[in-house]
Amino acid sequence: MGVNNVNEIKNKVELRYAKESENESNLSCGNNLSFLELESGDRVLDLGCGRGIETIDAAKLVGESGKAVGLDLTSNMLNVAEENAKKQNIANIEFVVGDIENLPFENESFNAAMSNCVINHARDKSRVYQEIHRVLKDGGKFVVSDAVTKSPLPESIKNDPLQWASCFGGAITEKEYLSSIKKAGFKEIEILKRREYLKNGYAFISLTIRAYKAR
Ligand SMILES: C[S@@+](CC[C@H](N)C(=O)[O-])C[C@H]1O[C@@H](n2cnc3c(N)ncnc32)[C@H](O)[C@@H]1O
Repeated sequence: MGVNNVNEIKNKVELRYAKESENESNLSCGNNLSFLELESGDRVLDLGCGRGIETIDAAKLVGESGKAVGLDLTSNMLNVAEENAKKQNIANIEFVVGDIENLPFENESFNAAMSNCVINHARDKSRVYQEIHRVLKDGGKFVVSDAVTKSPLPESIKNDPLQWASCFGGAITEKEYLSSIKKAGFKEIEILKRREYLKNGYAFISLTIRAYKAR
């Protein structure tokens, strides 16, 4: 089942990304915006926005009548994101400290959601997708890139919070992952990109998925 104390995972995740916030490393595993088809006036949520690169691009796409909101657990990341937005004079943007398992937003707040290489860090993926479903408006959509496995990882890896922080120990099988999206109520679930690779000797898959909340 993996690490029982959810705070242990979050502590290790925050420690890792507080350090990462200081450098320029690429933390993405997909290009979600090209598939999200945002429209002028949309409200869009970026889950685990990191330094806010895609949040800023989304804000530009939805224009002044829309808004992009970036949420992240790690406040150091959000400090960098805020600076980045300021440098580019982006006004229709907000960065919020928070946890993707308990979104601090009212029901039906967004037209679209995106997340790039984040949800594998969450202890309860089903809960994350229920939360995304809750905050999307009817007919809203998400595009998510994330890492999954071909077979379940050994318990020794699933029990190690450091491995969860390394985009590794928290990865579940593709089947379990897609099932959590379906159970949350999403429709028209589509795999837009699928790339197989080896991570620490284990068969991993990088997925980009789009799905809709029914109208
Ligand atoms: C691999 S980085 C990706 C950042 C960004 N999406 C990108 O593509 O550049 C993962 C980000 O997810 C954040 N994160 C991890 N677990 C989270 C959680 N439970 N709630 C909110 N953010 C989380 C981390 O702080 C980090 O900024």
